[in-house]
Amino acid sequence: MIPVNEPILSGRELDYVSECVRTGWISSAGKFLEEFEERWAAYCGRRYGIAVGSGTAALQLSIACLGLEPGDEVIIPTFTIISCALAVIYNQCVPVLVDADPATWCMDVSRIEEKIGPRTRAIMPVHIYGHPVDMDAVNRLADKYGLIVIEDAAEAQGAQYLTGRDTEQALWRRCGSFGALSVFSFYANKPLTTGEGGMIVTDDERLAEKARSLRNLAFQPERRFYHEELGNNFRLTNLQAAIGVAQIERVEEIIARKRLLGHEYTQRLKDIEHVSLPVEKPWARSIYWMYGLVLSEERELDAAELGEKLKGLGVETRPFFTGMHEQPAFHKRALFLNEHYGVAERLARRGLYLPSGLGLTEDQMTRVCDAVHMVLS
Ligand SMILES: Cc1ncc(COP(=O)(O)O)c(C=O)c1O
Repeated sequence: MIPVNEPILSGRELDYVSECVRTGWISSAGKFLEEFEERWAAYCGRRYGIAVGSGTAALQLSIACLGLEPGDEVIIPTFTIISCALAVIYNQCVPVLVDADPATWCMDVSRIEEKIGPRTRAIMPVHIYGHPVDMDAVNRLADKYGLIVIEDAAEAQGAQYLTGRDTEQALWRRCGSFGALSVFSFYANKPLTTGEGGMIVTDDERLAEKARSLRNLAFQPERRFYHEELGNNFRLTNLQAAIGVAQIERVEEIIARKRLLGHEYTQRLKDIEHVSLPVEKPWARSIYWMYGLVLSEERELDAAELGEKLKGLGVETRPFFTGMHEQPAFHKRALFLNEHYGVAERLARRGLYLPSGLGLTEDQMTRVCDAVHMVLS
């Protein structure tokens, strides 16, 4: 079976982890943690990095830093991972959903404004499967309505977006450089991984300090066991950060390889009829985090059936996200009842992704594409 993803730990990961064990720096302080935060923030063009235990924790902590009131609203895409909605709900706020763009599968920026109301405080754009959201459009709305942008770049390490594309100041910037707080995951299926892990990056010193405090149970420097705020244990360990540093040493190679794999898949699959493949907008440099495909209505087969057939041919796949508005867990809390988002619903039923890991060999890619052709051509 060709797996959907496999982490590649072929650099100095083992050396650095061994150093932690040898020196006893295995917990949530140490030189690798500092280096991991500094280097990842710098790679994203940001001033501060705050490493945490997961991308989910990074999202929850980001919202906690904003000091929102219960009942305040945060706009998120419906087509995303549940972490985005949980981050809002666990902060006593209300997630408000926006449908997906049929081409990029990211939140449809033309549908955000209709969701902005008197309680809206923030927007959370999510770069889905490695393709950037049209961030200029999001930022224009945020400026117009005084909203904070929490950028979820968990799936878009190293992806780039061309900001100011119709101006003389057009500039390619990395995903993770656009939010007041921007969030990453370093879970094992991400191109750069620490096993489990996440990070917030920001330029705002006050937010960075707040995030550092809240990730560490809001202990106070002067009076440790006296708490003015409710924090959490969202700490990352030096052991995990050691792996992260070794991964960052190879970041350019890793991101280039991801882009190459994506372009290679597109070349090999683009002639199959009634299937849409990931796009790359002229203003985007995607990393094709997961290489998806969406079956058109002309085909009787849906994504679940296609997944079964590919499994029979030795190819592991994963279904696309099920929209937040279709989750029983939220319906039980009377959220999103009777809401419908046609694009996200279609993607959930007709989309899946193929093996997309860094370890995918030439031979495996040929076998995956042969299998897809066999079922769909
Ligand atoms: C868009 C997005 N946000 C957040 C997360 C959560 O990250 P983690 O699995 O590290 O908690 C993920 C995980 O894959 C994700 O895809």
